[in-house]
Amino acid sequence: MRGLLINFSYLISAIFFIFGLKLLSSPISAKKGNLISAIGMLIAIVATLVSKEIVDYTWIIAGLLIGTLIGIYIAKKIQMTQMPQMVALLNGFGGFASLLVGFSIYYYDMNISSFTASTIFLSILIGGVTFTGSLIAWAKLSEKIAGKPLLFKGQRLLNSLILISTIVFGIIYSISPSTTYTYLLLIIILSNILGVLVVIPIGGADMPVVISLLNSYSGIAACASGFVIQNNVLIVSGALVGASGIVLTSIMCKAMNRSLVNVLFSGFGSNTTKIKEGEKKEAKSAIAKDAYFVLEAAKSIVIVPGYGLAVAQAQHVVKELSDLLENNGAEVKFAIHPVAGRMPGHMNVLLAEADVPYDKLVEMDDINRTIDTVDVCIVIGANDVVNPSARDDETSSIYGMPIIEVDKAKNVFVLKRSMASGFAGIENPLFFKENTTMIFGDAKKTIQNIIEEF
Ligand code: TAP
Repeated sequence: MRGLLINFSYLISAIFFIFGLKLLSSPISAKKGNLISAIGMLIAIVATLVSKEIVDYTWIIAGLLIGTLIGIYIAKKIQMTQMPQMVALLNGFGGFASLLVGFSIYYYDMNISSFTASTIFLSILIGGVTFTGSLIAWAKLSEKIAGKPLLFKGQRLLNSLILISTIVFGIIYSISPSTTYTYLLLIIILSNILGVLVVIPIGGADMPVVISLLNSYSGIAACASGFVIQNNVLIVSGALVGASGIVLTSIMCKAMNRSLVNVLFSGFGSNTTKIKEGEKKEAKSAIAKDAYFVLEAAKSIVIVPGYGLAVAQAQHVVKELSDLLENNGAEVKFAIHPVAGRMPGHMNVLLAEADVPYDKLVEMDDINRTIDTVDVCIVIGANDVVNPSARDDETSSIYGMPIIEVDKAKNVFVLKRSMASGFAGIENPLFFKENTTMIFGDAKKTIQNIIEEF
């Protein structure tokens, strides 16, 4: 009866997780989705605690308290722009937890079946790769180490050899777990080395995709450790994380028009593309007052936000400017590129924070259809996602990535601090086009200056 009740609670929490995930797919319902998933997790934890004969709660309560305090501290301290590296760390810890669960079960009882041993092997292999891979991703994104791809001769061969040896050791260990403790130790070491080796050749610009993939791995590792400790809700939630991480990874790759294989193995960002000398003219620049005169007369305006909007924290002043422009009789829309910023939905979250209505947000394909009729495009801290060489220059490293074609609008204002390149490290011919005017400075300050002119 007790077992039935526990499994019923697990079923309820799994339903909460699925329902929560569904609600997370729209900004309107995302908050509710988060809450519902959290309630699902609470049910799962309580059910797990009452399902076992736990004689001493000291460690559990101590862990709960320390974890809660660290969680609150991090949630308050981390800025939105630091979210990808934060997620990387959390994925890494998830992977490490799965590794520890697998190892401790074996450590306390080596007389296990081959099936349990094979699930321990999987949770250690995937958990180890996720742990060190995520630490490297975190270090690259937070600039603790260089973000550029680190490539060397024979890299893929070395990685393949390590992976094959780990799998062979895993098979030996699974066949006879009680006599192969040393093999398990080797698996732990090799999987952690593999995590480092598979992430170092990936460029900083591709890191958000890698983080999403590692997120998926952390789910698969958790799923494997669910089999180790025979906990149904861990199997289900791990599988959900694994599957949703893969879906997200594929959405990101599609938005950049690249395959996952290309992201993982091409060493993207190791070369920087420069504009051919002959094509490079002087970029025109202006000040806020000049922009005001053009904006004041414009009837249709499209705002294209990018990573710089997040850095400048300009979302509230952008909303203020868009209200002013609308009151002045213009139609204002926000064009959102699927990989603008550093994480999926980055721009949507920022604009939602400033109460920009969802119906003002237009997707890339929809805006591109009519962009040539737009009077002014204001590009705020975006660079790669509006770079025409992705469309026009076959030699460009981002060739083929869909862009918001702002260069086709009648006028373009680009708000950024300098002529520096974006995340992909390539120059942007947009800045030199006839219809483009650069307005240099921090985006928030520039927009405030334009607002003052109004
Ligand atoms: P980026 O190409 O990274 O360009 C951002 C620009 O913002 C920079 O050129 C920078 O120029 C400017 N900037 C920074 N701080 C600023 C400030 N305070 N005020 C004004 N401007 C500021 O951004 P993007 O166009 O959003 O493209 C995103 C990139 O990330 C793409 O390469 C994309 O492929 C990659 N990526 C994204 C994702 C997701 S899911 N979002 C996933 C994988 C890869 P200055 O330094 O001159 O100011």
